[in-house]
Amino acid sequence: MTHFISALPKVELHLHIEGTLEPELVFALAKRNGITLNYLDESALRAAYQFHDLQSFLDVYYAGMQVLLTEQDFFDLTWAYLVRSHADNVRHVEIFFDPQAHLARGVPMTFVVEGIVRALEQARQQWGLTSRLIMSFLRHLTEESAMETLRLAEPFRSHLSGIGLDSAEKGNPPTKFARVYAQARAQGYRLVAHAGEEGPASYIRDALDILQVERIDHGVAAITDAPLMARLAQARIPLTVCPLSNLKLKVIDQMSELPVRQLLAAGVCVTINSDDPAYFGGYMNANYQALQDGLTLSDAELLQLALNSVEACWLSPPEKARLTQAVYAHGDAYGVVLAP
Ligand code: ADE
Ligand code: ZN
Repeated sequence: MTHFISALPKVELHLHIEGTLEPELVFALAKRNGITLNYLDESALRAAYQFHDLQSFLDVYYAGMQVLLTEQDFFDLTWAYLVRSHADNVRHVEIFFDPQAHLARGVPMTFVVEGIVRALEQARQQWGLTSRLIMSFLRHLTEESAMETLRLAEPFRSHLSGIGLDSAEKGNPPTKFARVYAQARAQGYRLVAHAGEEGPASYIRDALDILQVERIDHGVAAITDAPLMARLAQARIPLTVCPLSNLKLKVIDQMSELPVRQLLAAGVCVTINSDDPAYFGGYMNANYQALQDGLTLSDAELLQLALNSVEACWLSPPEKARLTQAVYAHGDAYGVVLAP
């Protein structure tokens, strides 16, 4: 790990809290909750983390979260992630949670939201690590289920900054959730959606035009569509790219194929994130490092990625200005000069 990366002040914008469930915590929670697992031990479970596409990962991801039952479980899950993020010099996080995956198991929304929020608040008080929470809908489920979840979230509205859309992308286009997003927009939620991970560039356009999202999660398929690239660059629409995720889920065959340098050169607000770090082999520093190893990015390019994340986040303007200063100060300490 280079010191430039480990000491770089970072912002994470694409993180599924259920995707931070490490095998050690799976076993600890299974024991606490009296659940019998199909795996002998942690290393047997970790050995099952071999994926050939998004769906093969999702099957393991939804199975893993069965151990999450109580408010304390959600606190412990979130706290473990925040400890790791703080160690990676992450200053601000915007995290997804998948309420439908818990409601379906009889776990009430209060346990989920209150456990997560209690950990986020503790990290803010203890380290000044700030956060936003994004409620994500499962796109393989129906529009009615998403609508019902939006209704169930009303008592927790003050804790929720935005809504997102995740799970199996192919065959579940953004258009399926046009009315849900219109409702959420009317309720003042900020809007993001996964698009262009396994799905085509047209899903990115639909997320922008029909769902009216302000940020695209993944979005790497944009590289296949020159007019879309120009639009993303011109409007500075952020893409939350996840290098180790794309590699593990075989969106790319090797890291050198990830189009981060091209996106940067085109002026797109591309950012680096960890997605589901317990399953994909690393948290924020590991993602920056894997990218650096695969693409031999310059320190100036890494600095630009960190600045993009600050630009793309939902902090207030003064908070953003403070973080931007911290990133520039880091660059100055290394004599890094940004491209004009
Ligand atoms: N849920 C958790 N991680 C995801 C990903 N990378 N894509 C779609 N849905 C997800
Ligand atoms: Zn994701």
